[in-house]
Parts: sequence; C-alpha cells; structure tokens
Amino acid sequence: MTAKLIDGKALSLKVRAEVKSLVSERTQLGKRPPSLAVILIGGDPASQVYVGHKRKACKETGITSQSYDLPKETTQYELLGLIDDLNNDTSIDGILVQLPLPDHIDTSLVIEHIHPDKDVDGFHPLNIGKLALRIPKIRPCTPYGIMYLLDSIGETYKGRHAVVVGASNIVGRPMMMELLLAGATVTLCHRFSSNTPELVAQADIVIVAVGKAGLVKGEWIKKGATVIDVGINRSNDGKLIGDIEFEAAAKKATWITPVPGGVGPMTVAILMKNTLMAYNKHQL
Ligand code: GUN
Repeated sequence: MTAKLIDGKALSLKVRAEVKSLVSERTQLGKRPPSLAVILIGGDPASQVYVGHKRKACKETGITSQSYDLPKETTQYELLGLIDDLNNDTSIDGILVQLPLPDHIDTSLVIEHIHPDKDVDGFHPLNIGKLALRIPKIRPCTPYGIMYLLDSIGETYKGRHAVVVGASNIVGRPMMMELLLAGATVTLCHRFSSNTPELVAQADIVIVAVGKAGLVKGEWIKKGATVIDVGINRSNDGKLIGDIEFEAAAKKATWITPVPGGVGPMTVAILMKNTLMAYNKHQL
C-alpha cells in the first residue's frame, strides 16, 4: 500500500469535541441542552446499528436524544402525526427519521413533513434546494462530512476533477452539489452511465456511494488520486468492506479512506453539528 489513510475516526472525534464544548458553554449559562428525536421504524439490523451510533454520539456530546422505536407496521398516518407533534414541540431541535422506511410509507412525503429548521439530516427539499442554489443551510451529513475529510488533507477543489459514483438523494446528488460549490469540476456516474471506468480513471477525487462491495476496481484509479469510499458492505467472511477494491486502489491513490473508520464516523459527527446548529436557531 502506498496511499495515506484519511482518518475519519480521529477527525470525527475532533468535531464531536467541538460540539461538546459548545453545548457545555450553553448549559453552563443555564440553557437546556440541544435535543434530537430519533425515529426508527422496524428492526432492520443495519439501521439499528447506525441509530445506536447516533444515540451514543448524542450522549457523549451532551445532546439529549429521544428515542422512538416503532414497529414495522406503523402507518404513514401515525408517523406523520408523530412528526407533527415533534415539529410543534419547542423542546425538540432536530428530527431524524432513519432510512430506509418500510415500503408502505412514502419516504419523500415523510421528509417533506419535517420542518426544514428541524431537518438535521438536511434531506428536506428546502435544504437540498438551498445547497443547489449556493446558499446552504442545513447540509446532508455524509457529503458535508466528506468535505471535512477532503479539507483535512488540504484539498483545494478549484481546477480539480471530482467523479462521484452513485446518484442517491442521500449521498451522490448532494455530494455533487458540495463539490461544485467548492469549485471542483464534477462528473456524476450512475447505473445508466456506460463509461464509469473511463471517467473514474480521469478523476483527481473519486467518491463512491453505491452499496456494492468491490464495484470500483483498483486499476481504474488514476495515480495520485484521492479516494473516498462511502460503501459499508459485509463480506462473506463477515468483515466490513467498502465499494472500492481497497488494496488495489491504495497502490494507486495518494489518499484513501478506510472502511470502517473513514466516512461513517464523520456522518455521525456532522449530525451532532447540525443538531447544535438547529438548536442555536431555536434558542436565540
Ligand atoms: N440511512 C442511511 N444513511 C442515512 C442518513 O444519513 N440519515 C438517515 N436518516 N437515514 C440514513
């Protein structure tokens, strides 16, 4: 391996420590701590793990988390009713609905129902629209966390070609907008792209968020590139692996994120930062 690792775990701890110190400043002034409502529907094991990380991070940063663990039979009507209550509750600053939702629930409708000021995931059309219009407010956690990772290694963006693989609402699309906002030239590859390997081979920065182990081959990577792997997949022997062939990519790249310990911890740290930001707005 020749590439250097981008340590998302270490950077996430730094961001979390900053949030913790700002929360403690507020509470020492006699204000209530920020609060996050975390809604999990059904028992998807991966979602349970992610939600567990988010709740633990709240505890460690001094943010109050309220848990709503609901059965998979929960109706859309019930969920929208709960979101109404949380929107109107002045003691709640952020609302997080863990995705994916069961098939009988319309995800877009649920996201649009969350008040944009409490949308700490940054998924509401208003928040996504603001990012697209270069006036970002609450920014989606994973892409914003990746910008922190890139900034930490001195990425300059302007005049650089970033290739994003995967066009999801949660990562790929907002990632494209973050990189564009920072001044990079951006290409977004998706399932209908016919020349993804050739495009990845031109990239100074490669970001892959598809959810398929080993989708991006090490040999596609340009020598000296920065490689960011958002994928979290389980290999046959039970190990966590990303969407990129790590060993082969690390021979070509200058910088690479590990899985685990790269992007994942940053998503959680930015969620804490977004919750603090939502709180600050409510507590003026
Ligand atoms: N499912 C996978 N990633 C995320 C995320 O960042 N936020 C929420 N709410 N659900 C997710």
